[in-house]
Amino acid sequence: MCGIVGYNGHRRAAPILIDSLKRLEYRGYDSSGIAVYDGKAIEVWKEKGKISELEKILPDMPGTIGIGHTRWATHGRPNKVNAHPHTSGGIAVVHNGIIENYQELRDKLVGSGFVFISETDTEVLAHLVNHYYKNDLIDAVISALNEIKGSYAIAVLCGSQLVAARKDSPLVIGIGNEENFIASDIPAILKYTRKVIFLDDLELASVSPDVVTFFNMKKEPIDKTINQIDWNLEAAERSGYEHFMLKEIHEQPRSLHETLAGRISELEGTISFENLNITEAQVTDIPRISIIACGTSYNAGLLGKYLFEHLSGIHVDVEIASEFRYAHSAPGSLVIVISQSGETADTLAALREAKTFGCRSIAITNVMGSTITREVDSSIYMRSGPEIGVAATKTFISQLGVLYLLALYFGKSKGKISSDRMKRLLVSIKQIPAQITLILNDKEQIKKHAEKIAASNDIFFIGRTFNYPIALEGALKLKEISYIHAEGYAAGELKHGPLALISKNTPVIAIATKGLTYDKVVNNIKEVKAREAPVIAIADEKDNEIERYVDGLIRVPSTDEILSPMLSIVVLQLISYYAAKVRNCPIDQPRNLAKSVTVE
Ligand code: AGP
Repeated sequence: MCGIVGYNGHRRAAPILIDSLKRLEYRGYDSSGIAVYDGKAIEVWKEKGKISELEKILPDMPGTIGIGHTRWATHGRPNKVNAHPHTSGGIAVVHNGIIENYQELRDKLVGSGFVFISETDTEVLAHLVNHYYKNDLIDAVISALNEIKGSYAIAVLCGSQLVAARKDSPLVIGIGNEENFIASDIPAILKYTRKVIFLDDLELASVSPDVVTFFNMKKEPIDKTINQIDWNLEAAERSGYEHFMLKEIHEQPRSLHETLAGRISELEGTISFENLNITEAQVTDIPRISIIACGTSYNAGLLGKYLFEHLSGIHVDVEIASEFRYAHSAPGSLVIVISQSGETADTLAALREAKTFGCRSIAITNVMGSTITREVDSSIYMRSGPEIGVAATKTFISQLGVLYLLALYFGKSKGKISSDRMKRLLVSIKQIPAQITLILNDKEQIKKHAEKIAASNDIFFIGRTFNYPIALEGALKLKEISYIHAEGYAAGELKHGPLALISKNTPVIAIATKGLTYDKVVNNIKEVKAREAPVIAIADEKDNEIERYVDGLIRVPSTDEILSPMLSIVVLQLISYYAAKVRNCPIDQPRNLAKSVTVE
């Protein structure tokens, strides 16, 4: 997805813009560009491909104010002309989002004599601001934005004036010392400041070196709160790991520990959340829950369904956010949206739809101040720290951590869990971070299994009940970073169709930890073995039976059946990582994918 940066201060802008853009590389992009005002004119440089290509052509630029962009093509091909910034007269604009009525606006502007050189929707915005500009940039930006339908986060440069605005696409202002910043994501400016102000929809900021002034769309000044970001720069760097993904896999014990910290008392068998505005008494009135999410967050939500239904008896529907808007069924009375970034456009749109039904809403998210957190009744933070790799890993573990706590809290409130079972589960969940560390210590063994299957064209992941969402997540991880075709299946479903694809060339990874459906999964393993598929099983360390049925075995520490998915998924993440490595894939930035998907 596109990235925006902006700078106005006392230092040369170009090196800061380039450095900040590089910190957004993980989001995925196909071209980049910067515009810097040198006191006389705005100079624009852009290039197709990596930021290093742009750096090769950059001259020495002394200006201390500028904007920059990494583009992920939506309107128009990924080339130099379509790269941002776009200019019109003395105006330069960078933009994230989509202008839905751009064709209509473009025709109008062409009729007024403006000449378009790119295929982008953003160029419309540059010409519109120019069209309205009469010495006051804020006025011109407001007038232009009033004509636009769609989503935007923008930074507009005009001489020594720098203005930012947003609607449905994230943007933060970084507050420095005699210098201020604009960024679409916090990691871009973390090196320079940890003080940020989140711009809300339909708000603008005028950014000078000494002061940032905020306005609404009527140009009335508004007060904003400064937030202190508690991540440090190291959290957003690779710290010696070859890839962010590998670093983040190793950060999972810490991430889960942070998720649980201060929220559970295993001695008393109680759970508490800082901001959850639902009392135990209110929980008993919840007739059903709708969990809404995309991708990995959806897979976490699916495990959430099993947990809530098993532990609290409350019926749960899990909805893919992009489909929820068009579903005919009325949503449940409690909506839980899960989003690592808190900015996913599909999830946000579904949340807004659910709110029109008067639903109470909870967000499970990793980004404080993100758009979703500002639109729900309460938010539960995952506390994972920044996740840079496109493939979600540590945030998945922490999403699960929150879901376990929430399901247990609901179960206790509804009197469905005995105090003893509650205490035992809380003791066990607290041991999971250390058990993940044991798996990580054994990664060389997992690597060998991954290397054996890395040349396959198709791989199946199977599991039942609590392990079924983990099969889906294992397949998603593998396909997104290694480009191997992978399918996750409820193991019992194979015989209803996919078994036709099973052969000696389709490895099957079976999540076969001990539990209610263990025997059935073993039968499913026998089914695929009968079709000559090589099988790798993930099984409990105390399982003495399964070895005889499989070709490869990866053991995970023993825990309660419902908690074991948090261990099995770590194995699957490592399998994906090492398979992708053998195949020489760009692990942190898989092709066609973006970290935060802010378009519907
Ligand atoms: C998973 O590895 C992907 N990054 C993707 O599926 C992701 O989980 C999805 O886009 C949802 O993102 P969110 O959690 O930020 O809403």
